[in-house]
Amino acid sequence: MILPRSSRLSGFYKKNLQERRQALCQAGWIDLDDLSALSGDLGLSPSQADHMIENALGIFGLPIGVALNFLINGRDVIVPMVIEEPSVIAGASFMAKLVRAGGGFQASASPPEMIGQMQVLDLPNLAEAKQKILAEKHALLDEATQIDPLLKKCGGGARDIEVRIIDQSPIGAFLVVHLIYDVRDAMGANAVNTAVEHLAPSIEAITGGRVHLRILSNLTDRRIARSKCIIPLDQLAFDTYSGEEVRDGIIAAWAFAEADPYRAATHNKGIMNGVDAVVIATGNDWRAIEAGAHAYASRNGKYTSLSMWQCDQDGNLCGSLEMPMAVGIIGGATKVHPAAKAALNLLGVSSANELAEIIVSVGLAQNLAALRALATEGIQKGHMSLHARQVAIAAGAIGDDIERLARQLVKENNVRIDRAEEIIKEWNG
Ligand code: MEV
Repeated sequence: MILPRSSRLSGFYKKNLQERRQALCQAGWIDLDDLSALSGDLGLSPSQADHMIENALGIFGLPIGVALNFLINGRDVIVPMVIEEPSVIAGASFMAKLVRAGGGFQASASPPEMIGQMQVLDLPNLAEAKQKILAEKHALLDEATQIDPLLKKCGGGARDIEVRIIDQSPIGAFLVVHLIYDVRDAMGANAVNTAVEHLAPSIEAITGGRVHLRILSNLTDRRIARSKCIIPLDQLAFDTYSGEEVRDGIIAAWAFAEADPYRAATHNKGIMNGVDAVVIATGNDWRAIEAGAHAYASRNGKYTSLSMWQCDQDGNLCGSLEMPMAVGIIGGATKVHPAAKAALNLLGVSSANELAEIIVSVGLAQNLAALRALATEGIQKGHMSLHARQVAIAAGAIGDDIERLARQLVKENNVRIDRAEEIIKEWNG
């Protein structure tokens, strides 16, 4: 019998690099090949990189770590995250632990439907052209589905055609045709772009117009991932802060982001700290996710928070996050990059939707971590000791001296590179 694995690995953060790798292996989360890929030993090679982009010179490294304690839809998950910023992984893991006490994250994702856009110009009568296209909808959908037989075999393909009239633009009015395309487990950019390029001549034949742009939209508002969680009040209390104080502080912090775009941008950036880190680790297109997230945050005409924090009737803190999530587990870098493949194996996901559910849950955890810190002791306290380590490394400290120097800088309340260099000189006599 295979016992369910727990994502709670006690004392994990206290271990050294090698011990952490061993602990993941021993707990059955990862095999040796995947571990090598994530350890940098057998990650992306320069020759693989050379096949991925033009004018390649080599590889640019970023840290990869794992967030623990995640329980998502009843399943324990250890989450690989690629991020250069300290505190992000610690914050996500800690909040996942609090959420766990309330039953974990409940996440869902809508069908993986992407939107391909065609801009139709040179039409004398837009309303008439719109009707003509809608009259041919079934034929157009059939045609679009035939373009990708593999996708069709997997249950994907064209789902709908929508026609929009853009009344006002710098070049006047024109028509936009949306092809709604179910891309199953792919991110889908290639499939959608191919489909709209293929369909464009038919749109021209039907309308007599000229199809100009043919490209997917990154505002993937039909491909939404949602996550929600409950944090029991007693889990929120710490130091001198009561559970009520922390809860109400978080709700007031969220209200700030809900009402003010200046704050909402930073609030959502905190969410994207978690989201992007998993998107990158799994070889997905983080620029697409960023573009979709911020466009979605302004969908009602005003930029606002992507998440929501409230109090339930029992006084617990409830959070939810809803955002576009166009990620894939096949195609693109997901299957080319050895570390991305290993990251997907570690997550144990069997569909793009399952990956989307994990990513949105990490985004929610990250948001909670930031709001909890901001609403209580402030963000710098937690940040400083980790930031001090980076300053120590930048000043030239190595080995055990990194930790020692970082501690000294925090003690002096002076986390600056000039002071760090001075201390190293003092130590070296
Ligand atoms: C820092 O990377 C992210 C935060 O600024 C997010 C926030 O303010 O909510 C802490």
